[in-house]
Amino acid sequence: MTTQEYLEALERVRIEGAARIASAETEAELTEVRNTLVGRKSGRLSHLMRELASLPESDRREAGARANSARATIEEKIGTRAMELGAKTSPQQNLDLSMPARQSWRGAKHPVTLIIEEIEGIFRDIGFTIALGPEAELEWYNFGALNFPADHPAMDMHDTLYLSDDVLLRTHTSPVQVRTLQSYPPPIRILAPGNVYRRDFFDASHAPMFSQIEGLAVDEGVSFVDLKATLSYFANRLFGKTKTRFRPSYFPFTEPSAEMDVECQLCSGRGCPGCKGTGWMEILGSGMVHPSVLESAGVDAERYTGWAFGMGPGRIAMLRYGIPNIRLLYDSDIRFLEQFAR
Ligand code: DAH
Repeated sequence: MTTQEYLEALERVRIEGAARIASAETEAELTEVRNTLVGRKSGRLSHLMRELASLPESDRREAGARANSARATIEEKIGTRAMELGAKTSPQQNLDLSMPARQSWRGAKHPVTLIIEEIEGIFRDIGFTIALGPEAELEWYNFGALNFPADHPAMDMHDTLYLSDDVLLRTHTSPVQVRTLQSYPPPIRILAPGNVYRRDFFDASHAPMFSQIEGLAVDEGVSFVDLKATLSYFANRLFGKTKTRFRPSYFPFTEPSAEMDVECQLCSGRGCPGCKGTGWMEILGSGMVHPSVLESAGVDAERYTGWAFGMGPGRIAMLRYGIPNIRLLYDSDIRFLEQFAR
């Protein structure tokens, strides 16, 4: 073959190839066309490339460059046509099994939700049911019915978020006690979880909205013994066998009142910065329901007595999981939250 004939043959492959590529209607046809043009063994262009060696040495460089360019043109046209055909075929034929899978995340319950569920479980086991009340509450349920004196500092505008003269965002879950007592006759054993609001600054241990769990038991012949026994049982279930102690306290709606401490969970009672060296951590407020609260709700305080408690599951979650700053509970930082996936 002369150099002239060689170059003409190249040109024919290029032109005919382009036409055949353009008229391929399926990916299979295109593959067939590709084989006849640039297939390694029998492709026409591949054959011509092998023929290069038989040309006069002085022409080889130029002819080789032309052959390479013909090959590039053909490959490019095949690529373009393959894309056109691919777009016409179904997505299934287009599956790229080598593509990395899309990353997925497992949902996790918030640590405060986990604690609330755990506490609800313990009290359900001993006969308590769940009661709920409104977050936008009448002032009377939040304070008056709970025996707060009219000038009590907690009612001050600095602590309470008022929505109108007599409607506020409840500052605690205790109003659910009164609403429940109004709606159901004793015996009553309820647990009332929910959000509460205070005009606090947002610092390491205060948030303007947080959750509380209220408990209430009212029946004939209920005494402080029931309160102590039930709350001690609860603490031992929540924290594992642990020491508890009750300290006298004051709340307008209970008399007598007591706060319950558990042995510091960080130092097992030896004393550490977490418990300010006392070896104890306060987990709840409690007391015998004040007779005037029962009377406000229309319950006969001569016949019935009751005990109640309130606690902050956020605080307990911080103790339980060693969370140093309350903000972590509200920031929705996925790196923090995903540690509770299980
Ligand atoms: N309501 C109180 C608070 O928000 C907590 C509390 C204390 C609730 C004693 C009670 C109780 O039911 O008996 O600080």
